[in-house]
Amino acid sequence: MNRVEMRFLSLADNVGLARIAAAALAGQANFSIHDIEEIKVAVSEAVSNAIIHGYENRPDGWVDLIMELDQSGMTIIVEDAGVGIADVEQAREPAYSKDPERMGLGFVFMESFMHGLEVESTLGRGTQVRMRRFVTLSGELSRDAQ
Ligand SMILES: Nc1ncnc2c1ncn2[C@@H]1O[C@H](COP(=O)(O)OP(=O)(O)O)[C@@H](O)[C@H]1O
Ligand SMILES: [Mg+2]
Repeated sequence: MNRVEMRFLSLADNVGLARIAAAALAGQANFSIHDIEEIKVAVSEAVSNAIIHGYENRPDGWVDLIMELDQSGMTIIVEDAGVGIADVEQAREPAYSKDPERMGLGFVFMESFMHGLEVESTLGRGTQVRMRRFVTLSGELSRDAQ
């Protein structure tokens, strides 16, 4: 069992910091290199969303990254106190983005690379993304693990 709480400013440079921290923690458990790559992508997407959408690229918001390791896997929470999401269901739809220039695949990656994704958001208050990745023998995403 291990737990890490990090708080960093909403700067694009901190996406890399979050990825490395997640990879380092995942490395303490039985995750494969492949698993760790996917965990890094999921963390990048959640942290990028907090910065780009939550804080609308303002550099003075706090992003909280909370990570917990236990015997069965890793839980990752990314939280911002930004603008919030009006319609979470719509935001999670594949190819939906508020910005037509963007791909709208962040939530799709998080969902497909992790075993569980929960999004809680309140307009004007912020967003919390919680995801979990199980350690599986094959290293593959296994529905049985749920
Ligand atoms: N932390 C957040 N705060 C506010 N809005 C968010 C947040 N995360 C996601 N969103 C909203 O959900 C939409 C979809 O997110 P995502 O799937 O990552 O696609 P993209 O980032 O390419 O727009 C975003 O366009 C944005 O409107
Ligand atoms: Mg995104």
